[in-house]
Amino acid sequence: MTGEKNLRPFTDSKARQSIKMKLLLLLVVLGTVSAEVQDLSGKMFTFPQPTNTAHVRLNPTKQGYSAITVCHRSVTDLKRDHALFSLSTPTYDNGFLTFWQNQNQEIQSYVGTGSVAYGGWDYKPNTWHSICTTWDSVTGLVQIWFDGKPSIRKFVHSGAITQTVIVLLGQDQDSHGGRFDINQSFVGMMSDVHMWDYILSPCEIQNYMNKGSFPPGNVLNWKALDFQIIGNVLIENQADCQPQCMFIG
Ligand SMILES: *[C@@H]1O[C@H](CO)[C@@H](O)[C@H](O)[C@H]1NC(C)=O
Repeated sequence: MTGEKNLRPFTDSKARQSIKMKLLLLLVVLGTVSAEVQDLSGKMFTFPQPTNTAHVRLNPTKQGYSAITVCHRSVTDLKRDHALFSLSTPTYDNGFLTFWQNQNQEIQSYVGTGSVAYGGWDYKPNTWHSICTTWDSVTGLVQIWFDGKPSIRKFVHSGAITQTVIVLLGQDQDSHGGRFDINQSFVGMMSDVHMWDYILSPCEIQNYMNKGSFPPGNVLNWKALDFQIIGNVLIENQADCQPQCMFIG
C-alpha cells in the first residue's frame, strides 16, 4: 500500500538533491539534539567551577504533571545562593525550583507563581545531603525532606503543570532554558537525581535517603538518564571508601 510511492523513480535531480540535503540535515540535527541514555549508578556530576553556562540538561520521559516528587543528593562548600534543581515552563522560569538562599539559610521551593522557604536545616558544607521535594497540584502543598527529616507542608501553588518543561542542573533558569546567573550557579557534586509525576510515600522517601530500595523516577531516572552536558561538567565515580580498603585495627 505504501510501497508504490517509494518505488517511483526520481526523474528530477534537483528533487533528489533536495531530499539528500534534508536527510543530511536530519542526521546533523539528530546528532546534536539526541542525548544518550546512561545508567549513572555509582556516578555523580561534578560541577568544578562557577560559570553562567555549564549545566546538565535532563530530558524527562513524560511531560504534564499534576504532582511531583524530585530527589537528589549533593555536596558543596558554596557560601552563596545556588540552584539545586531548576525546572522552567514557557510561562514560569521557576516552574519547579529547589534553591538554597544563603543569607537566610533557607531552602526555597518555587512552583509556578508561588514560593515558600524552609529554615532550620543543618546544611553543612562538604557533606552530602539528600533532599526530596514533593508537590501536589490539587492542594498546592509542597513539602521538603532533608536528610531524612520532613518539613511542615506549606501552600505554594495549585494547578497542574501542562506546558513543556526544561529541566536542568547546575544553573538557575531566569528564562525558559537560559539567562543563567553565575552567582546562583552550583559548584560541587550531585548524584542520584530522580523525578516522579506522583508523590512518593514517606517510607519510599526514607528508603531513598537511606540508599535502600525505592521505585526509580518515572520522569527522570538516574539509572536510565537521558541528558546532555553543556560546558565543563564531568561524570565521575562517587568516591566511596569500600570496606575492603579501610584500615582496620
Ligand atoms: C556576582 O557576585 C560578585 C561578587 O559579589 C559581583 O561582583 C558580580 O557583579 C556578580 N555578578 C553578577 C552577574 O551578578
